[in-house]
Amino acid sequence: MPFGGDYNPEQWPEEVWSEDLDLMKRAGVNFVTVGVFSWARLQPALDRWEFGWLDRVLNLLHGAGIRVDLATATAATPPWLARAHPEMLPVDERGVRATFGSRQTWCPSSPVYREHSLALVEQMARRYGSHPALAMWHVSNELGCHNSRCYCPTSSAAFRTWLRHRYGGLAALNEAWGTTVWSQAYGDWDQIEAPATSSADRNPSQLLDFHRFSSDALLEQYRAERDVLRRWSPGVPVTTNLMVRSPFVDCFGWGPELDIVSNDHYLLGFLPDPSADLAYAADTTRGCARRQPWLLMEHSTSAVSWQPVNKAKEPGEMLRSSLTHVARGADGVAFFQWRASVVGPEKFHSAMLPHAGPDSDRFAEVCRLGRVVERLSELRGSTVDADVALLADWPSSWALDGPGKPSSLVRSGAAANAYHGALRSLGVTCDVVPPDADLGRYRLVLVPTLYLCDDATAEAIAGFASSGGHVLVTFFSGIVDVNDHVRLGGYPGGFRDLLGVTVEEFFPLDRGETVRLANGGTATLWSERCRAAEGTAVLDTYASGPVSGNAAITRRDTAWYVGTALEADDLRSLLVRVTAEAGVRPPVPLPLAPAGRSGPATFDITRRRSGEQTWLFVINRGESELSVDASGHDLVSDTTVVSPLRVAPGGCAVVRETPGR
Ligand code: GAL
Repeated sequence: MPFGGDYNPEQWPEEVWSEDLDLMKRAGVNFVTVGVFSWARLQPALDRWEFGWLDRVLNLLHGAGIRVDLATATAATPPWLARAHPEMLPVDERGVRATFGSRQTWCPSSPVYREHSLALVEQMARRYGSHPALAMWHVSNELGCHNSRCYCPTSSAAFRTWLRHRYGGLAALNEAWGTTVWSQAYGDWDQIEAPATSSADRNPSQLLDFHRFSSDALLEQYRAERDVLRRWSPGVPVTTNLMVRSPFVDCFGWGPELDIVSNDHYLLGFLPDPSADLAYAADTTRGCARRQPWLLMEHSTSAVSWQPVNKAKEPGEMLRSSLTHVARGADGVAFFQWRASVVGPEKFHSAMLPHAGPDSDRFAEVCRLGRVVERLSELRGSTVDADVALLADWPSSWALDGPGKPSSLVRSGAAANAYHGALRSLGVTCDVVPPDADLGRYRLVLVPTLYLCDDATAEAIAGFASSGGHVLVTFFSGIVDVNDHVRLGGYPGGFRDLLGVTVEEFFPLDRGETVRLANGGTATLWSERCRAAEGTAVLDTYASGPVSGNAAITRRDTAWYVGTALEADDLRSLLVRVTAEAGVRPPVPLPLAPAGRSGPATFDITRRRSGEQTWLFVINRGESELSVDASGHDLVSDTTVVSPLRVAPGGCAVVRETPGR
């Protein structure tokens, strides 16, 4: 099981390196990512290459039995390149060109950047392609993190090329973009620009295509680097570290391009429940990996350095976070970074080896984690049990977050987070999957605010329901087609027949405004004038507010519709009912929280499986002991467990379950 982190030895004198290796051994590190930001060290000038130091690093690591995820080093360019080609620097939507002096200061469509980056990749691949320490290649770093949307003339030209390919002719483009509105009909390709800031709302269909193009431009860079690697280093897996919680690129589309899907995740200290975001990220990464195991490429041992207030992790949180990723499909645990920097913007970012040195609580915690991860090796390759799919889609999110919606309070991801969180509090695991996923294996499919929905997706969901699967669709789903054009005849056009409802008009609610539901629940954010067709059961109606008396929650056979945002407890109660009807159960029977205020999930309970063998993960974030029915061997405490398994507050267990029990 890979355990380690980003290793940046170029920040340190060579005499520190041997201490690094000794301490890595002590911590159980067996995997490091090297060279992510080393371009300037490797190529200090156009015609000068310096690989000696990296040769020594790789040989040392090999000697210590540590496997290397070698970066292509293309994420940050050296100053000489930016100086020679200032046109390569990205331009933001206000037209401001970045200056050199941070990282990712390159335009994704720049031919100059492409040429120089691939020359570097070729050097790396030729030199290290069959190095015995090499475990995998790491293309660039978090592609798009800082430069995902560039509005420079080169990007505009590349956008036009992309559009020609997508539409063939201008007539099709004008139709797709609805350019009859506001006098935007294009008569020549050269009239089209990247949609930078304008005087009023920009064309939403154009914006949507620009998001698609921008994701593709970065994917092209990934593919170009990968293809060089494959040429010179065949058979070595290639990855790039995704950021599945970010809007930058369409990670579901990228997943199949990666030999091993890897993700970076950092707890967001300002969220009410940062672990909910972590669980969602892990379930999404599994969706990118099409249910196969994936690699946690980066997280932190403690605080980061880029949030408004960088909160340190409480003792035990490192283990809980790492195990939550593994519980949800990670086959490997890595951190940014091995040794804390003393210079640069990230010098106060935590690391495996903190400023305080090895004689520290944090390093001791890292060493303990290393021992646990080693024991988890036996579950590598196993998959995560999940009977529920939650559909998510980057293009739909881009479109939803574009201008001119009924409510700017309805943001992408919010409904998905709420449903995912509610399921998690019931102990139910769900895969977060793209709309083209194979739904056949699930009992229940959730469709939370899938604003944009193409015909194939609408058909697939309807087909799933007609073969007996349960589907739950929420408000403002299936509203527009692939070009962000409204589907006519009453909302939600894409799902109207499936759900047996017709919505005539939306009545969004203000921040803090609520509406009573007839069954005692509370609606927030959204209400609508909704009519149920014959044969559709109305399960709840609005009891106050502008659409009092209208249907709020309905059901037609196995298709459920929730036309508003329910408060957490109401949502949870609804999901208790829906999961029961769909035959979805948590991995182990759990005592349900008493009715009333249940709060966020206080545990993560999942099961991984390989053939007949299963492993039950129990991570207790609550304040009282958790007692569940499990017997076997706990790989965290390395002890035998006879049911009931008792997990203390803040504790974790990973039980290799006795088969057949
Ligand atoms: C990531 C990045 C790392 C490091 C880390 C700090 O986004 O890939 O290089 O900057 O954040 O949290």
